[in-house]
Amino acid sequence: MTTALSRRDGRTLCLSSVDSHGAVIECRAAANVGERMWHYRIRHQVFVVEQGVFAGSDLDRHDLRPDVVHGIAVYRGAYVGTVRFFPLNPDTGLWQGDRLAVLPQYRTAGIGSPLVRFAVAAAAALGGQRMIAHVQLANVRFFERLGWQRSGEVETYVGLPHQPMTIALAPPADTE
Ligand SMILES: CC(C)(COP(=O)(O)OP(=O)(O)OC[C@H]1O[C@@H](n2cnc3c(N)ncnc32)[C@H](O)[C@@H]1OP(=O)(O)O)[C@@H](O)C(=O)NCCC(=O)NCCS
Repeated sequence: MTTALSRRDGRTLCLSSVDSHGAVIECRAAANVGERMWHYRIRHQVFVVEQGVFAGSDLDRHDLRPDVVHGIAVYRGAYVGTVRFFPLNPDTGLWQGDRLAVLPQYRTAGIGSPLVRFAVAAAAALGGQRMIAHVQLANVRFFERLGWQRSGEVETYVGLPHQPMTIALAPPADTE
């Protein structure tokens, strides 16, 4: 079960869901520097150490933007997943989502899906109209199941084949 996007403590955009054991999965924007460090650590573990997509560091200029959202998933008291999103073109409402990662020991437990839903709902609440993502080929079906569509041919992105995908951002739900 996934709730609507809300504001935690009246500030931080948050989307909560519950796993099959009743444990809460909270997907939200990192609320402070410490949480942002957890976000970076998880990305490093998955994209640098595990997958080797990036050598040394996966940080880039988008991490320095004032309008970037560093999303985290909190599950059973641990930081377990990430997603990042930011506007590509504020005039058209086009956003990009990326750096979706769940630590290996927490995969297929229903954490990646709410992270994607959180990014989509939060970007919509922040004025976005459409989100794009460069999706690893192994994850295309995962995104299609969440309502995303293929958008063009497979491309080389960060040196690897990726499928461009897109989703329309629904009008924001009640975020209070
Ligand atoms: C892709 C990723 C984020 C998915 O996270 P997750 O927590 O395992 O996803 P969920 O548990 O929410 O999966 C929801 C459903 O999709 C399925 N699923 C998960 N990964 C899938 C994939 N790659 N292809 C198809 N289905 C997938 C799950 O089995 C589950 O199915 P169910 O609803 O029938 O039980 C995770 O595997 C990951 O971090 N991978 C490494 C980093 C990565 O590849 N990032 C994406 C870059 S594009």
